[in-house]
Amino acid sequence: MSEVRVVLLGPPGAGKGTQAKSLVASLGVPHISSGDLLREAVTGLTELGLEARSYMDVGDLVPDELVLGMIEKRIGGTDCAPGFLLDGFPRTQAQAAALGDMLNARGGPLEHVVALAVDRTEVVERLAGRRICPDCGRLYHVRFEAPQNEGRCDGCGTELVVRDDDREETVRQRVAVYENRTAPLIEFYRQEGILHEVNGSGSQADVRGRILEAVGGQA
Ligand code: AP5
Repeated sequence: MSEVRVVLLGPPGAGKGTQAKSLVASLGVPHISSGDLLREAVTGLTELGLEARSYMDVGDLVPDELVLGMIEKRIGGTDCAPGFLLDGFPRTQAQAAALGDMLNARGGPLEHVVALAVDRTEVVERLAGRRICPDCGRLYHVRFEAPQNEGRCDGCGTELVVRDDDREETVRQRVAVYENRTAPLIEFYRQEGILHEVNGSGSQADVRGRILEAVGGQA
């Protein structure tokens, strides 16, 4: 593929981050996660992070005007010249419209939107068992993707942590926000003719294969 402009959509815990990390090598473009960028801003105590934190802590969306500037700057980076794999953005109609404008200005429209479908019970189970390496960002699950040494990252040995917003009540709110504000984008992109609905259940390798097939990439 020459240029690749892909969005991964799906509820919290659908496996967007897991799949994006594994797909970047095959697609040859950077993984841009709006959640990761916001968490970096929170950790770095930047102005954006200080504003974003109160929304993230309770599972609400960070206001569009804060997120849009962050994404526009990131996709303007030189490493995005061959394209990008967006994870967690867009999440609202306004963000989808703004992304369309940004890409029109750059000269290349969005090519594929992959909507990962995973049912609510499975999503909640995935998030309850998710563990993250705070150093290298590698993702684990206590049952489905357990590290070799319990509680330690296989890559760098750092102690794994639970994400702040993976508490049960926050997960419930995140899922509700997804259904109200983000799921309507599935229909929007279907109308645009670039939607691929992909079953996000099953092994990570199977899901990866389905996504690559949908976007026409090489394994
Ligand atoms: P964000 O970080 O984007 O969170 P999310 O969309 O809720 O998605 P997650 O990261 O929770 O899940 P995922 O789909 O990436 O699943 P993962 O691969 O980790 O956003 C966080 C917050 O930031 C938002 O609530 C909001 O406040 C703010 N925000 C972010 N973007 C924003 C935006 N655009 N606008 C406004 N606000 C924004 O997998 C989950 C677990 O499942 C892992 O443990 C993994 O090992 C396991 N797993 C993965 N695949 C499989 C499989 N096939 N089988 C079994 N287990 C699996």
